[in-house]
Formats: sequence, C-alpha cells, structure tokens
Amino acid sequence: MTEDYGLRTEDYLWWRDGVIYQIYPRSFADSNGDGIGDLPGIIARLDHLSELGVDAVWLSPVYPSPMYDFGYDVSDYCEIDPVFGTLADFDRLVQQAHQRGLRIIMDLVLNHSSHQHPWFVESRASRDNPRRDWYIWRDGATGGKLPNNWQSFFGGPAWEWDERTQQYYLHSFLKEQPDLNWRNPAVKEALFDVVRFWLERGVDGFRLDVFNLYFKDALFRDNPPRPGLRGYDRQWHVYDKDQPEMHPLLRELRALLDRYPERMAVGETFSDHPIEMAAAYYGENNDELHLAFNFHFTQQPWRARAFHEAIAQWEAALRPGAWPCYVLSNHDVVRHASRYAAGLHTDARAQVAAALLLTLRGTPFLYYGEEIAMRQGQIPRAEIQDPVGKRYWPFHKGRDGCRTPMPWDDSPNAGFSVNPPWLRVNPDYRERNVAAQRQDPNSVFHWYRRLIALRRTSPALRRGAYRPLIRRPVHALAYLREAPEQTLLVALNFSSRPVLAVLDEPLPARDWHALLSTADRPELELLGNSLALAPYEACVLGMA
Ligand code: GLC
Ligand code: CA
Repeated sequence: MTEDYGLRTEDYLWWRDGVIYQIYPRSFADSNGDGIGDLPGIIARLDHLSELGVDAVWLSPVYPSPMYDFGYDVSDYCEIDPVFGTLADFDRLVQQAHQRGLRIIMDLVLNHSSHQHPWFVESRASRDNPRRDWYIWRDGATGGKLPNNWQSFFGGPAWEWDERTQQYYLHSFLKEQPDLNWRNPAVKEALFDVVRFWLERGVDGFRLDVFNLYFKDALFRDNPPRPGLRGYDRQWHVYDKDQPEMHPLLRELRALLDRYPERMAVGETFSDHPIEMAAAYYGENNDELHLAFNFHFTQQPWRARAFHEAIAQWEAALRPGAWPCYVLSNHDVVRHASRYAAGLHTDARAQVAAALLLTLRGTPFLYYGEEIAMRQGQIPRAEIQDPVGKRYWPFHKGRDGCRTPMPWDDSPNAGFSVNPPWLRVNPDYRERNVAAQRQDPNSVFHWYRRLIALRRTSPALRRGAYRPLIRRPVHALAYLREAPEQTLLVALNFSSRPVLAVLDEPLPARDWHALLSTADRPELELLGNSLALAPYEACVLGMA
C-alpha cells in the first residue's frame, strides 16, 4: 500500500521510527474561500509535508460538529463536516497521502459527544428512552444539591440540569459535550464500530482524546479537596478519571487494532497527573497504547536542566519495550517559539528545541507551523473564538493563539485563503512564511528538514539508547544515542553565550565530525573533557 522513501530500512515502523505532524484542519489551508481550512486544502499542501519529510499526519477532528469546541464535540462519528469537505475528499486524502508514504491519524473524541449527536438527543428525550443510559444521568443529592462535587475542566460544575427529565447529566468539558457512558456495553460496541469504520477506510492510527476520562467511579464519590486556584484544580481527580477499568478496555482496543497491519493508537493522558500514570497506559505487557503523550515538555522553562530531568523521568517511567514520544506544541498550548521567546534569539532557541525533539529516543510530534517557528497569534478579545478564552479572559486568553492560519506566503491572508480567515493571520506573516523559508537555506524550515532527514537515515537516532553525558547540566545538554551499528553525539547550548560544557564521561577525543550544526564548524572542539559550543549551538556529531 505504501511507497517507501527508499532510504528506509526494512524494519522501519512509521509510528516508532518516523515523525508525526499534527494538522489543525481549520487553520492549515482553505481551498474554497470560506476562510476555514479544509481537506482539499490539506491535499493541495501534501507536497509541503513530503518536502519536510514527516511520516504521518494527525488530523484534529473533521467530523460533523456544531463547533462549540471546534470539532471536539462530534455529532456524527462516521462522516465529515461539510465545512471540511466530504467522505470522498477524505478518501482522496488517504489515498494521496499513502501514495507519498504518509500515514493518516484520526482524532477520536470518544469520552463525550456533542449534545446534538442523535444519541444524546434521544437520551435526553425521556427517562425511559432506550438511549437514556448511553450518557451519565444522575438525580440530585438531597436538598436540591448537585450529584457530587465533580468539576468541568472548562469551568463550573460538571453537572447540567435537564429541566424536561428532571435529572443532571455529566459533562467533563462544555455542557454541549455530554460524557458517554462507557459502562454500557452497547455504547462500547457502538464506539468500537466507529474505530472499525475508520480502519476499514484505510486510516493508520488514532489519537484518543482524553481517553483516561472514559470511566468514572461507579459510586460517584466526591473528589477530595486540594489547594488550587480555580474549581477544577481545587480537587484531586481521584474519582472522575484514571479508573482501573480503562486498562482492560485499552487491551481490547489494542487487540482490535492489531487485526490490521501497522495500526497505532496514541493517547492523550489528561491532564496533570504524575508521568507514571501516562506510562501505565502502555500496559503491563505493552499491550495497551502504542504511545502515550506526556506533556512535560510543554511545561518546561528554557533551561537545559529542566529538559534533562523531564527526559530522565520519562525514560525511567517507561517499562522496557514501551516506546517514548515527545511533544513541544499542540492545539491546546501556547506555541513553543513564543513560550521560549527571547527577542532576536527566538529562532535560535526554536532550532535548539527542534534538535532536541528530533534527536531523542522516542517519536517526535510536530505541530503545524512549528517548522517555521510560527509564533503565538494575538487575538483581540472581540475576535476570541475558543470557549475557554471567552470564559476566562483575561486570566486565560484561550487557545486561539496557537490555532491561527498557517502562513504559506506573503500574499493577502498569507496564502491560507483568498478571503479573511476565521482567525486573523499572524502580523509577521509577510516575513515568516513557508515560501520565504524555503528560499533561505539557513531558515528554521531547512533546519527541521535536515534533522528529519538525518533521523530517518540514522539507526542511532531512530532506535539507539539515550545516554546523557552531563549529570547536572546548566547551560548545555550533551547525550549519546547508541545503536549497535552507530553512535551519535548530540550537543545543545541553551544559552546566548559560548559555553564550555564539562562532560561527566570521557569521550574519545578524536574522530568526531559534525553531521549537522547550527554553527558553521566542521569539527567538534573538545578541550579535555569539555565541549566548546557556540551561542545556541545545536549539533549532531558522528564518529568517522
Ligand atoms: C482535549 C483536546 C482539547 C479539547 C478537549 C475536549 O484536551 O485536546 O482541544 O477541548 O479534549 O474534547
Ligand atoms: Ca474552506
């Protein structure tokens, strides 16, 4: 089915050896001028992904949706929203992606549906409707109180009163996103049918939205209190997520995926629990998720030590055979180029961050635009679209800023659309766009391209063990990636000054040569047991 890039070895497994690229479809490319990105737009831009060299595309939801949460509220799991195109467009996307050796990952939002999903419309019609038990309905506690103290992540209680049937339903997010009842076998069957539907259509993998919320405590006990700023953070989420029932369910899902060749599931472990919890979802025998996100990289300050520790924790948390993955940006967090902004040094930092992400042991997830160090957009209050921003402004400005249109070139609307887009384009798009960076061999784009190409051809980067060479890093990270057939050395200077990074382990003082470096130097400078690095230098070295 898939063409290989030729450089790939026989045991190349796309989700383990490759690089995955997340597209937020509303914001990638608009083909029909309605200001909203769509599937034909993505198809027209597949060349960009091939040129970048990624292996797979994860599409944020494209299902029919009233868009209260921009597609994370699904009203039909087996269709495409007209704003994005048709099922025929989707089939064309899969086929054209596969022709280029690109895999397609769908976002499965199965913790909750839209309140407009026919299942919920029936469920709320009457207490004796056959679908009543497809969602989570409860009586109030005595004295007109809520069923328990559970909170919605998007603010307020997780319970919404339904006047007609005189009960509350549970919503972990917006009230327009009622939680499905996974304890009902009919619900599980219906949702597994959804998985089968997309597998049969040729989809290669799934990203499971907030999967660790599927099951709630069977007794609906109150969460214990905890100090915190807002409602959701003021309790320990002991009873509304991470229930033991999740593990057998994931094993069943895995067994279903394993009936098809090379399918993959990556889970969004929600949200701020210890990293061991995310690791647990790989399964005791690595028979649950293929990959589980841990979001520690999205929370680290710009410090070598912070990243060093986050990597060490993740490496330590995973059982042997569990494969790590890393992510710096996505559609829910501030873009990392802006998180790590440092005036004129911002692009240099973005290049160091890219080198880190693409040389670690584990599958890198890129977010559209990061390959040109796209910045967080600034959306004025009147233009806010995200429900989180509408509710929490100015305390939290919402997630629109990381969802602004992809800047393709310097034409009006950044080449994203012939008309004004649903979110304004970033003000710097005339300089920071894909076309401009393709022209410039020193751009962030070409740095990503070179890193990805090196990773693809390097057994050490793809599979090698990770061995840090500095135990208590201050300004720089240095680590080896060691595979039987190859050893590479990665050195990253997080500082704007030249540094001498003192290694805790001796390196052979000769024969290292740069395979890639942001600094213009052919040889590694080793002074005794120290590496001399230029400001914000990121380099990958091999032994001759
Ligand atoms: C996940 C998604 C987020 C969405 C939420 C509710 O966290 O990444 O965008 O709002 O789930 O579905
Ligand atoms: Ca469109």
